[in-house]
Amino acid sequence: MSNHPRNMRTYEEEINNFKWEISCKELGYNEGDVINIGEYCSDRICRMGKADKLALIWEGHSGEEKRYTFNDLRQLSNTIAHFVRGLGINPGDRVCLFMDKVPELYIGFLGVLKSGAIVQPLFSAFGSESLLTRLDDAKTTAIFTQKKHLPKVRNILKDLPSLKHIIIVDDDASKPLRECEVAFHMDTAERIDHFDVYPSKAETPSVLHYTSGTTGKPKGAQHVHYSIISQYITAKYVLDIQDDDIYWCTADPGWVTGTSYGIIGAWSNGVTQCVLDAGFKAETWYKFIEKHKITVWYSAPTAIRALMKEGNEIIKKFDLSSLRHLASVGEPLNAEAVIWSKEVFGLYFLDTFWQTETGCIVVSNYPEMKVKPGSMGKPFPGITATVVDLNTHVPIEKKGVVGMIALKPGWPSMIRTYWNNEVTYKGKFKNGWYLCGDRASIDEDGYFWFVGRDDDVINTGGHLVGPFEIESALLEHPLVAESAVVGKPDPVNMEVVKAFITLKPGTVPDKMLELEIMNFVRKKLSALAMPQEIEFVDSLPKTRSGKIMRRVLRAKEWGEEIGDISTLENDM
Ligand code: WT7
Repeated sequence: MSNHPRNMRTYEEEINNFKWEISCKELGYNEGDVINIGEYCSDRICRMGKADKLALIWEGHSGEEKRYTFNDLRQLSNTIAHFVRGLGINPGDRVCLFMDKVPELYIGFLGVLKSGAIVQPLFSAFGSESLLTRLDDAKTTAIFTQKKHLPKVRNILKDLPSLKHIIIVDDDASKPLRECEVAFHMDTAERIDHFDVYPSKAETPSVLHYTSGTTGKPKGAQHVHYSIISQYITAKYVLDIQDDDIYWCTADPGWVTGTSYGIIGAWSNGVTQCVLDAGFKAETWYKFIEKHKITVWYSAPTAIRALMKEGNEIIKKFDLSSLRHLASVGEPLNAEAVIWSKEVFGLYFLDTFWQTETGCIVVSNYPEMKVKPGSMGKPFPGITATVVDLNTHVPIEKKGVVGMIALKPGWPSMIRTYWNNEVTYKGKFKNGWYLCGDRASIDEDGYFWFVGRDDDVINTGGHLVGPFEIESALLEHPLVAESAVVGKPDPVNMEVVKAFITLKPGTVPDKMLELEIMNFVRKKLSALAMPQEIEFVDSLPKTRSGKIMRRVLRAKEWGEEIGDISTLENDM
């Protein structure tokens, strides 16, 4: 299928001709119109004559399968919207989706948006404390969850006065539900054919995704319904999805890739997508591609490196000839992985760069553009991206010089603020540029080369974890006095969490304590946030004002120069 015509013209042609209005026009949106992501991804597709086309092919961990057409999406999202409205949930209220990758998560996303509420997807592997922080910040009104995750919600309910409804999508009536808990079964509920979709406008809040920073608690990145203008056209041009494609985005909708491209991108284009609700295993993944004849595959460097590790022999056991286009996001995609994919799949994984805040791909490789393995590619047409000087925030003219990745605000899917945190949002803009918090250089051909993050945030397997949140959790352990958390190199996940800890006086560290502390964090936050290594130290490097210098610890882990430590109080 390699000769499949592309959706996007050559990069040069698009750069000269691209306008976001093209996307508005294709979606049938005129300024001032009602625009609702839920409606655009289901009812609109049905009106285009695709009601009976498959929208979702879902497979669970034991191989069970469910299929939904676009008409099913339309009716079932109506059903969920009707249910949400029936609970008395108002437009603008936050409704959390806290589920594994089950169909209710994907269709519920559309349903909540149709009701006018703001949808807040959270990664189902989060522990109670991660959940509490985010539900408390958003003052969430209702949460959809599964029986298996219910105890985590019940645990924190007393600390969440705003949380009025816990909706369980797979309750089997084996145990009585408590007050404010209610069962809802999507597949068997009475289907609602006509629903009065909330008449949201371009700037109406839609999705609230929590993302971690260096300091403070995770921030709620506030998207609006108009974001679909970006997500539709970038999915079409960069991921090249077309009417006859079977698309697979491996990301979990608890993170932005799983919503922008795991829900909105595919369905706004009326494309069939597959979801695999099972953990990573090379064999399972290849089998999934073979079985469903997946053509377009959007994944992440960690997964690609994990597949590489499994070797090339296993690939020969499967017929993967359906694949025609591969892309990746989340962390630097190393040149070796790009070259390897060409060797084994006959196709390059095209690296794409973006963030929760940008809502859509902003720098990327494109179907018809020369690949320079290891480069993130070039700005998406319609987006002005550059690198700016670290101090002056003026664009760097000289090629190959490292600066901060900066974007000119104004594309449709940029977040509008951080939830209740306008100050931090405003702080991201300097000299008229939005600063991504990443460093890169641009070569003589305009290709971007990623260098690293400009802050202490840890990117583990494509997921950002904030050191502050982990340090705070560590401090809750009765034997921990102080802690500093940094990323350390890892061959598959790029970085994993490492904690430096000083213990309370009189405590002697041992392996048992290390494991106990690791588990303590895993339960409270998540497996991602759990330190993979703990180093017990007598003291932590601090500035004279007492601030822990993570930078010094990080540099040691990476074997890098420590840089200016003139403000350091104690020598390590
Ligand atoms: C951060 C954003 C939006 C996708 C999922 C992550 C890093 C993302 C790349 C890439 C190097 C990358 C950056 C960015 N990142 N893509 N292709 N190469 N780094 O969304 O959780 O908001 O993380 O992920 O550091 O700022 P996110």
